Amino acid sequence: MEVETNKIKVTIDNITIDVAPGTSILNAARQIGGDVTPPAMCYYSKLEGSGGKCRTCLVEVAAGSTADPRPMPKLVASCRTTVMDGMVVKNMTSEKVPEARAGVVEFLLLNHPLDCPICDQAGECHLQDLGYDHGKEGTRYQFTRRTFKKEDIGPYIQLHMTRCILCYRCTYVADQLTNKRVHGIVDRGDHAAISTYISKAIDNDFSGNMIDVCPVGALTDKTFRFKNRVWFTKPVDAHRNCTTPGCCGKATLWLRGEEVFRVTARKDEWGEVQSYDGKPGWICNTCRFETKKTESWTIEGVTTISRHSVIGANKYNTTLVKPNETVKKVMKGVEPKLLMDIHSVSGVNNPNVHLSDINGPAHSDDFKK
Ligand code: SF4
Ligand code: FES
Repeated sequence: MEVETNKIKVTIDNITIDVAPGTSILNAARQIGGDVTPPAMCYYSKLEGSGGKCRTCLVEVAAGSTADPRPMPKLVASCRTTVMDGMVVKNMTSEKVPEARAGVVEFLLLNHPLDCPICDQAGECHLQDLGYDHGKEGTRYQFTRRTFKKEDIGPYIQLHMTRCILCYRCTYVADQLTNKRVHGIVDRGDHAAISTYISKAIDNDFSGNMIDVCPVGALTDKTFRFKNRVWFTKPVDAHRNCTTPGCCGKATLWLRGEEVFRVTARKDEWGEVQSYDGKPGWICNTCRFETKKTESWTIEGVTTISRHSVIGANKYNTTLVKPNETVKKVMKGVEPKLLMDIHSVSGVNNPNVHLSDINGPAHSDDFKK
């Protein structure tokens, strides 16, 4: 008979679950899922040693454990704090956490440029989401922001250090996935920067995974840079028989029509690389950068994208379930006064052209037909 490991009880935002001893608060919250889960900019479950750098995952511990129910005096980093039996944690329900997180966002944005309109990561950037959820409108920072020259890390990756938040994830990829690490963090404090030692290029088969783990647009795919906005591309799950040892061969192809604009590893709901049979599904550079023809892949189907993501916008008409209720019914008999047909009020669009029939963004020419 299988021996049950002793589970311990933890309550997060009034939801109690049993988890294995040694589980971090963040991972316990991920087991509950949804909004209870704190954001994480540096922790990455597939990278050993990650976490503890960015402080976005701060939570309040209202009771330390059953044995010692005193609250913890300060907010703690949930990715680095293990749960105790009877621990009571507050994330969404805390009054202190939103303010602290807003402070963390302010610090992360001290030097980070607000160049989302031209950044390749826009639409899938964790800092952008964090800024929307917890950021403040203005900045109190009055000094010159630090800037760096763009640097090529090997033939396929460009480092734009100005956008880096020093989460260290890419250095863990370099350490744990590639056999000859030639890049890391140099200097200290405000001068700290990701760089290659003596300008050495990274020519390892798995270096491209650094792009996937980067939470911001600091490391970008040179074969995709400025080619398209991610929300104009259509992601599909695909696989191929890759012969590179260690490559899972399962990827997401980002298509525009039949053209493959970029290839990435498949991501899970936390924005991390998906696991297969308990192993992270890293992909090799051959799959990522050199296999950009649909015929080289077996396409499995459209990638499921969170309905909150801008990437899924306007692409999945066939899978949309229209609610049966009318607005009037949902609003308990109250009819909205401002619901209007955009065609009839704009006077610009041709009402015979249906917006959802336009492939990609609408231009004025589309309405002249
Ligand atoms: S380049 Fe990206 S992954 Fe690397 S430390 Fe900076 S933000 Fe993190
Ligand atoms: S995710 Fe916990 S400190 Fe960064």
